[in-house]
Amino acid sequence: MRTSSPTGPAAEFSVVAEGLRKTYGDKHALDGLHLEVPRGTVFGLLGPNGAGKTTAVRILATLTRPDGGTARVAGHDVRSEPRAVRRRIGLTGQHPAVDEIMTARQNLEMFGRLFHLSRAQAGHRADRLLEQFGLSDAAGQQPKDFSGGMRRRLDLAAGMILAPEVLFLDEPTTGLDPRGRSEVWRAVRELADTGTTVLLTTHYLDEADRLADRIAVIDRGRNITDSVASFGGRTPTPAALKRAIGGDRIEVTAREAADVPGIVKAVARVAADGSEPEAEEGTGRVHASVPSGEGVAALTDVARSLQEAGITVEDIGLRRPTLDEVFLTLTREKQEAAA
Ligand SMILES: Nc1ncnc2c1ncn2[C@@H]1O[C@H](COP(=O)(O)OP(=O)(O)O)[C@@H](O)[C@H]1O
Ligand SMILES: [Mg+2]
Repeated sequence: MRTSSPTGPAAEFSVVAEGLRKTYGDKHALDGLHLEVPRGTVFGLLGPNGAGKTTAVRILATLTRPDGGTARVAGHDVRSEPRAVRRRIGLTGQHPAVDEIMTARQNLEMFGRLFHLSRAQAGHRADRLLEQFGLSDAAGQQPKDFSGGMRRRLDLAAGMILAPEVLFLDEPTTGLDPRGRSEVWRAVRELADTGTTVLLTTHYLDEADRLADRIAVIDRGRNITDSVASFGGRTPTPAALKRAIGGDRIEVTAREAADVPGIVKAVARVAADGSEPEAEEGTGRVHASVPSGEGVAALTDVARSLQEAGITVEDIGLRRPTLDEVFLTLTREKQEAAA
């Protein structure tokens, strides 16, 4: 006999979704999505625009009903127990709901009152959250005077009023400048350290890499990391995902077309096993994958070889894999596994 539900308080997973489907007209926003989010982790749902990320979050947060499949969040079924789910989650979206005229503290206090906290409790909670998100000094200011990063942190704080077990963040840094992004990243990490399970969506590979303990890549409403044999049926860590994609790429652009063969030779020395340097015709660009973790050493090696060969180049650099390359690699692995 089962004594606790698979997503109960002491369970291994805070979110379990099986075969979620959602159709808009003839468009399959979710096409059998499967997800397992380990408790107390930051889980990245990575995918391009239109992949179904927001639809997934809305279903898990009980704002949209699925057409098929099941999902349990913090131990409760999103369809049959939506109120129990809502009591245990927080949600912040791309569009902050904070009021412009009230101060930061008044905003948080108001959210607390909306959730039926007493005035004293709401004020206490507001102060605690302002402190946790590094906004104590700005408590008396209006959000309209905030930087993008401060606003987004206020929005995160508003989603944390009831100290939820599971917090959903839909593209928490989209539209922020690099400084705002790193401020939000720090706040999310600190949240996770206090035990909250965070499910965040993003279309930035580097964001998922920086923040997430596990990354599920979704495309066209499906989890495409699910069936990749090398992940052994588990959602991969960022490191495993990067290994699957094959690490960084080194990219050198020739100044003179005649130098391309010499550049190819220098790059070949550092290319990862099984990766041949590719020379693009017309652009003079030569690139190859390098083993993960060895990007900087490879770059130094190539620069030295080029100097010794007396070749001056237009540009030389390391490039992280892009989300497109992640997709290509994962879809290729899937096809190979099926073949
Ligand atoms: N309310 C809606 N009505 C019609 N189509 C929708 C609606 N919401 C989402 N879609 C479609 O479903 C697909 C997935 O959308 P969405 O979940 O917003 O993706 P993402 O958040 O990954 O960008 C897209 O093709 C989108 O156009
Ligand atoms: Mg979205």
